[in-house]
Amino acid sequence: MNNDNSIKRKQELQKFKKYLKKTAKEVCTGVRKTVAAVKEDVKTTRERDPAAKSDLEVLLLYPGVHALLAYRLAHGLYKKEHYFSARAISQTARFFTGIEIHPGATIGKGLMIDHGMGVVIGETAEIGDNCTLYQGVTLGGTGKDVGKRHPTIGNNVMVGAGAKVLGPFKIGDNTKIAANAVVLEEIPESCTAVGIPAKIVRREGKKVDNDLDQIHIPDPVAQEIKRLENRLASLEAELAALDSVAKKKKI
Ligand SMILES: CC(C)(COP(=O)(O)OP(=O)(O)OC[C@H]1O[C@@H](n2cnc3c(N)ncnc32)[C@H](O)[C@@H]1OP(=O)(O)O)[C@@H](O)C(=O)NCCC(=O)NCCS
Repeated sequence: MNNDNSIKRKQELQKFKKYLKKTAKEVCTGVRKTVAAVKEDVKTTRERDPAAKSDLEVLLLYPGVHALLAYRLAHGLYKKEHYFSARAISQTARFFTGIEIHPGATIGKGLMIDHGMGVVIGETAEIGDNCTLYQGVTLGGTGKDVGKRHPTIGNNVMVGAGAKVLGPFKIGDNTKIAANAVVLEEIPESCTAVGIPAKIVRREGKKVDNDLDQIHIPDPVAQEIKRLENRLASLEAELAALDSVAKKKKI
């Protein structure tokens, strides 16, 4: 009996050791990946922000770097369906950085969130590689869509301070969204979009003419009525003139 118990205990101990080994391996891989990702974030910020003076400054004092670190942890948990803890990490990061990245969002390599305060990235938003977002950017929904509700941002896209990109459409690679623009529909590759609602003003670096107004087209029926009104007025005038001549000549 005693022998049986000790065999059972040995088996349980071996099982536990295996579990510990597997968990330690997973943690080590996770830590290694996170360190590599943080190094990449620091490098990206140093390359793109001329105000960044040292790696240590970027690592310790840049909220964009902190928010991305928290996002990676939260996203890992979200993928394993630990929704509450994922959201708790994302909200804590928001409290400290002012940047709210939903743990369900998909973010590529080389994202820089400069200054950060007021940035919101929705659950179904997707961001390609080497993008830059400035403070106050919203990658959000309009409230009218279900399922995929947030935009898909291509590679090398810049979204200026305060810009809102709202809806489940695509922003093409190498496109620039101007500060304070409100984008409500798809923008193709290599464009610059400005204003509310955003309009394309540059494509492949060349000026785009927006003078042709496709919305405020003149109403042809109203135009015809106006033409008839003018004709009627001139006929009435002619008739009145003839009438006065006839009266004078007592015809
Ligand atoms: C849009 C932007 C990226 C410039 O892109 P670009 O392709 O070089 O475009 P241009 O500078 O040639 O400007 C194109 C046109 O858009 C206008 N424009 C530029 N930025 C604009 C803006 N934010 N809102 C409205 N119009 C804008 C320009 O006046 C120009 O008009 P024009 O065609 O009548 O001459 C830049 O102006 C911008 O908004 N950057 C955001 C940077 C930012 O947020 N910085 C925050 C740092 S804290």
